[in-house]
Amino acid sequence: MTRAAVLTGLGGWIPPVRVTNEQLAEQLDTTDEWITTRTGIRERFVVEPGTATSDLAVHAGRRALESAGVDGVDVLVLATSTPDHPCPATAPTVANRLGLGPIPAFDVAAVCTGFVYALATAAGLIAGGTARSALVIGADAFSTILNPEDRTTRAIFGDGAGAVVLRAGDAAEPGALLGFDLGSDGSQADLITVPGGGSAQPAASLTDRDDLYFAMQGRPVFRNAVTRMADSSRRLAERIGWPLDAVDRLVAHQANVRILTAVGGELGLTAERIVVNLDRVGNTVAASVPLALVDAVHSGELAAGQRTLLCGFGGGLTWGATGLVLPELTVRPLPGLTDRTLTGPAAGARI
Ligand code: UT7
Repeated sequence: MTRAAVLTGLGGWIPPVRVTNEQLAEQLDTTDEWITTRTGIRERFVVEPGTATSDLAVHAGRRALESAGVDGVDVLVLATSTPDHPCPATAPTVANRLGLGPIPAFDVAAVCTGFVYALATAAGLIAGGTARSALVIGADAFSTILNPEDRTTRAIFGDGAGAVVLRAGDAAEPGALLGFDLGSDGSQADLITVPGGGSAQPAASLTDRDDLYFAMQGRPVFRNAVTRMADSSRRLAERIGWPLDAVDRLVAHQANVRILTAVGGELGLTAERIVVNLDRVGNTVAASVPLALVDAVHSGELAAGQRTLLCGFGGGLTWGATGLVLPELTVRPLPGLTDRTLTGPAAGARI
């Protein structure tokens, strides 16, 4: 029997500061109508000054460990594009604060695909026998790198963290990650970028502080998101032997409800099979897929035994997908998100 990575615990965390569309409209040239209609997002949560990505990651990681009923793992993989510092990685800090001991801990940077890439990395370490268990966290505090005057990015992004625990098992068990499809296209790297602050344009050499802010070309990113996530999901489903009409739930990167609707259309998946929680948390980057999982499992929209396809897309460009039959999971609700009323993508926006 192949040694597989089996998901046994799930947890998520969002920071306490809620920002509604109406509040954004008081600060910027935008409206609730525009944001809701064009994205499906109604509110997002952001960190207070002084709160860093590691703070979010520690909360989510602790919840995932509790959910799995364990207090230790063999490796921690943290997906983030907003590390606490350019150097060192944030994962060792998180491992230390969680009391996980001197385990290997490292960051994976694939922007909004980061969580799927991190899952694949941890699953590979488990399959190869290097680790028997892993804590995989997706965490980003994107509000810290947004231009406060950019109405487009501020309307979309929110902060958060989501985490899962994996352990070695076999592929026949519920929760086993059944395979991966991963890809990248660096020829379109400039569509999603923070131009400065890295080795190409060191922060100390910048003449324009705006180069330290996140920038995105919305329309081509939108088009890529639809085709890359649909293609990756299709390849993954074929690889693991699932006909697309046997997929019970698609948990895709939560960037825009119109993207989710279009991906569903490409794959022939009806609206009730597509998990949506971006209406209340926005695009939380590496936290997006696990936070959607947390919300859907807690609400009962996603239940044990369902064939669940996870799919990400983000800067790089990068994309990836994996699939699992959802195991029984105990999940605490996201703080501040107990009033779930949404089902299916069409409910999230006036499209
Ligand atoms: O997480 C990584 C992946 N990211 C994504 O998948 C995001 C993908 N892209 C999108 O979701 C959409 O492209 C956006 C939501 C970012 C933008 O929506 P859009 O329908 O593509 O709008 P647009 O960029 O084509 O802009 C249309 C108009 C422009 O005005 P003009 O030039 O037509 O006068 C924008 O300036 O909407 C304007 N606009 C806004 N208006 C009010 C852009 N942002 C806003 C805003 N409020 N917040």
